[in-house]
Amino acid sequence: MKFTLSTIALLASAVSAAVTDIDLYIDSQNKEVDGNSLQPLHEGAAIQYLFLGHQQNAFQYDSDTQVLSGPNPPQTPFANNFSIVDHVAWTSSSTEATKVTIIGGHSADRGFLAINGSSDGFYAVKNINDPYQYSNQQYALVYYPDGGQPDGAISVNIRTHTSDNSTSNDSSASASPSAAASSAPKVTPANGAGANAVSGAVLGGAALLAMLI
Ligand SMILES: *[C@@H]1O[C@H](CO)[C@@H](O)[C@H](O)[C@H]1NC(C)=O
Ligand SMILES: *[C@@H]1O[C@H](CO)[C@@H](O)[C@H](O)[C@H]1NC(C)=O
Ligand SMILES: *[C@@H]1O[C@H](CO)[C@@H](O)[C@H](O)[C@H]1NC(C)=O
Ligand SMILES: *[C@@H]1O[C@H](CO)[C@@H](O)[C@H](O)[C@H]1NC(C)=O
Repeated sequence: MKFTLSTIALLASAVSAAVTDIDLYIDSQNKEVDGNSLQPLHEGAAIQYLFLGHQQNAFQYDSDTQVLSGPNPPQTPFANNFSIVDHVAWTSSSTEATKVTIIGGHSADRGFLAINGSSDGFYAVKNINDPYQYSNQQYALVYYPDGGQPDGAISVNIRTHTSDNSTSNDSSASASPSAAASSAPKVTPANGAGANAVSGAVLGGAALLAMLI
């Protein structure tokens, strides 16, 4: 019974966490980079530097923990924390997240990514001598909130846009119970002996959640 309750609690917390999918775009006076997306490119073990590009990539943002995480490349099925390390913006499954907020939006699903309460300090720049030398061709995203950015760095802001509109509209939540139920079978019982009881608990949890939502 203890396991049943904790399973339900786990499912409930997973559903109630304030995580939304967001797309990130460059906002800049510079026409060459304005409107670009941010693309994580693999630069070594568990690290992806962020580059300006044209491919849309869904990031996840947890407004409770203020952790932004990047799309998972297939080789790392872990959360990829957005972090600023030595002025470089990257996503990594091995570094602490740099906490971010979303500010200045003119509607709930749009705004600007901010660190320490400010959306300034971000730059696009080439030739940062990254491990795989992508920055010879592509602009890398770097962060210099106190000046000292490299010569030729282009000042940019990062525009956010929630890609999952349903999370910002409670009246569309009626679609959620089926999502909760269909995700339930993915929870694998820890051992064979308790399998029936556990899957019963999971289904019960999903049904309970469906009623709560
Ligand atoms: C991501 O950052 C959070 C907050 O700093 C931390 O608790 C978590 O362990 C980090 N995750 C990884 C995989 O490093
Ligand atoms: C945010 O501000 C704190 C306090 O000034 C500072 O220590 C920290 O480095 C800042 N974060 C970033 C990512 O620059
Ligand atoms: C979400 O809303 C925006 C406008 O706020 C709209 O442009 C976009 O197409 C919507 N996306 C979906 C998946 O409904
Ligand atoms: C939420 O969705 C409903 C129906 O799809 C719509 O009528 C309503 O205006 C939406 N509310 C907001 C705040 O977008």
